[in-house]
Amino acid sequence: MNAAGRSIALIGFMGAGKSAVGRDLAARVKRQRYDTDEMIRKRFDSSIPEIFERYGEEAFRDAETEALRSLRNAAADVIVTGGGIVLRDENVQLLRALGMTIWLDAEEEILWQRASRRSNRPLLQTADPRDKFSVLLRERLPLYQATADHRIDTSNASIADVVDQITRLL
Ligand code: S3P
Repeated sequence: MNAAGRSIALIGFMGAGKSAVGRDLAARVKRQRYDTDEMIRKRFDSSIPEIFERYGEEAFRDAETEALRSLRNAAADVIVTGGGIVLRDENVQLLRALGMTIWLDAEEEILWQRASRRSNRPLLQTADPRDKFSVLLRERLPLYQATADHRIDTSNASIADVVDQITRLL
């Protein structure tokens, strides 16, 4: 059977917990996990900051679309995406075709606390990363909203709680 259309894709801003939730969710529901950032890192054999620096954001975004395209015939998998996946309309269409899209969200300050623990986000390598974070979040909220089938507020939820909530949607 062609199982395309039965995957679970996690979308949301930096710090939403997509990677951690994706890992536990895939283990819980016994499905294969794909992470577009990981796929891109492997393809370039470089870290995300290096890819941005050497090839530019556009090349990263092209690779992101390529990664999603390559999952078009994915079975009922768990697909973790980068925070900017919703920027391209083609990506949104690809996500819709993959199956159920779940938006992991949280209060802005909580997203910031989580995202700023690590310095591996090239988009935040600016003079005022907190301000950039706010601007990007404001730009993207309507895109997550328009793309997602469900929104889960992870502000005060553990990873296990979020996974529970997702399994109840399946
Ligand atoms: C990005 C988010 C990152 C990564 C890249 C760009 C974005 O993923 O894809 O740094 O545009 O928001 P996370 O959402 O996992 O941090």
